[in-house]
Amino acid sequence: MDATKGYGLRNVSSHCSISEMDDEDLSRLLDKPRLNIERQRSFDERSFSELSIGLLRGGLDNYESTYSPGGRSGFDTPASSTRNSFEPHPMVAEAWEALRRSLVHFRGHPVGTIAAYDHASEEVLNYDQVFVRDFVPSALAFLMNGEPDIVKNFLLKTLQLQGWEKRIDRFKLGEGAMPASFKVLHDPVRKSDTIIADFGESAIGRVAPVDSGFWWIILLRAYTKSTGDLSLAETEECQKGMRLILALCLSEGFDTFPTLLCADGCSMIDRRMGIYGYPIEIQALFFMALRCALSLLKHDAEGKEFHERIVKRLHALSYHMRSYFWLDFQQLNDIYRYKTEEYSHTAVNKFNVIPDSIPVWVFDFMPTRGGYFIGNVSPARMDFRWFALGNCVAILSSLATPEQSMAIMDLIESRWEELVGEMPIKICYPAIESHEWRIVTGCDPKNTGWSYHNGGTWPVLLWLLTAACIKTGRPQIARRAIDLAETRLLKDSWPEYYDGKLGRYIGKQARKYQTWSIAGYLVAKMMLEDPSHLGMISLEEDKQMKPVIKRSSSWTC
Ligand code: GLC
Repeated sequence: MDATKGYGLRNVSSHCSISEMDDEDLSRLLDKPRLNIERQRSFDERSFSELSIGLLRGGLDNYESTYSPGGRSGFDTPASSTRNSFEPHPMVAEAWEALRRSLVHFRGHPVGTIAAYDHASEEVLNYDQVFVRDFVPSALAFLMNGEPDIVKNFLLKTLQLQGWEKRIDRFKLGEGAMPASFKVLHDPVRKSDTIIADFGESAIGRVAPVDSGFWWIILLRAYTKSTGDLSLAETEECQKGMRLILALCLSEGFDTFPTLLCADGCSMIDRRMGIYGYPIEIQALFFMALRCALSLLKHDAEGKEFHERIVKRLHALSYHMRSYFWLDFQQLNDIYRYKTEEYSHTAVNKFNVIPDSIPVWVFDFMPTRGGYFIGNVSPARMDFRWFALGNCVAILSSLATPEQSMAIMDLIESRWEELVGEMPIKICYPAIESHEWRIVTGCDPKNTGWSYHNGGTWPVLLWLLTAACIKTGRPQIARRAIDLAETRLLKDSWPEYYDGKLGRYIGKQARKYQTWSIAGYLVAKMMLEDPSHLGMISLEEDKQMKPVIKRSSSWTC
């Protein structure tokens, strides 16, 4: 085996430009208050309208001119000569070894990574399965290391699973639904491998994962961007797979909002946590997947129809999210003074939010400078909780305007103790407790206050935080978070989550050797060392989508 691959260090053979930069250049690059990440705007980073015209004229050809072979994607930021300029942290080699141990093979080919490789745990539940969402950081780590094959295999395998007929009792699920997870069964006697998949029909609570399809599209773009191999995305299978996912979430119905209506537990937070309605995690992923699909869909007859629907939805969705989900000091003050029971088009308080429903904690939590997308907005209900994943994805997808992105980073910095504490980073803030916990979670013993999904700390989110930091030109925040993770993660055997207000304790029922904690760390490290990796998971702002926010003071003061 190639020695670099054995240790999981980046296979640099094909990257001619990366040794051209010395340490000083790199540190200057990382410390710059704002990284110039616009140097090479690529195909899918252009505005929708520009894009439609370009596509009509030149098909997907433009794409090719901007890819950089061997894993780096998007920006022509000089990459680090990683192995020469940095002594890799000892945890990196350990992490690669653990990540490789988690590989799952189907008929001799790697197709994914299991959720956790925890032999000490008596209860396996479904942690021996390949989860679509959990595989994303693994996939990014492999792409960044110049090993795209496993990602391709995974994309094709899950695509096949999408084609299965999906039923819960007598009810049939939408054709486009992607599995939450799958498992490979090896029969040593017959020497055959078979697959079982879970689309929600076996999951605790029987909820289908809305995020899986979105992550699949986002990963297809990351693969395409990283390898420059357009041929996979262009296959009829992939085009059809995308269209089926899109058909599910672009269908017309009784909706009055462009956001996507969801059941509780349909995403990373996969049990009852009061996120039903329009959770930020799904809306941000929805937005990002739509933008990725726009860059990957062909302009044939079927693709073209979806293009048009996507462009319309993106405009409406960004307006809605930027206007109604955004909260900063000024906006909070406005809501606090809202009149209620307004009728007709002139209403200011459109969703009839009663100011008395604003939780007390948010008044102290809100810094003068800073802001975030709140958890949920629906009639008479605003969930003011902070959710890390949705806000980071909002930055990466440019759902957040540049000003909003900066404001989110300002918030993370000024509320470091609450949101990060001793380990990055809380899945949501704050925890819900006592009576509210009973009502909202249905007395869930796993989701007690400051544990698991209820204010628990998830190391996997480190890669998203790091990507958001790099995109906003604040790598020092990522470095601080990674330093914290390095004090504990390996020593604690890569836990799934931590508990407590400061994230100090290994989670009550946390698995050890949780794969996405391992891969998340590696991705964060590789991105910080070579910020050009960001391109595979980030989309530049679309200048055509005018910001609509008029009331925030957080970026003017
Ligand atoms: C838990 C998490 C979910 C994750 C799964 C496998 O159910 O809530 O987000 O995908 O474990 O790690």
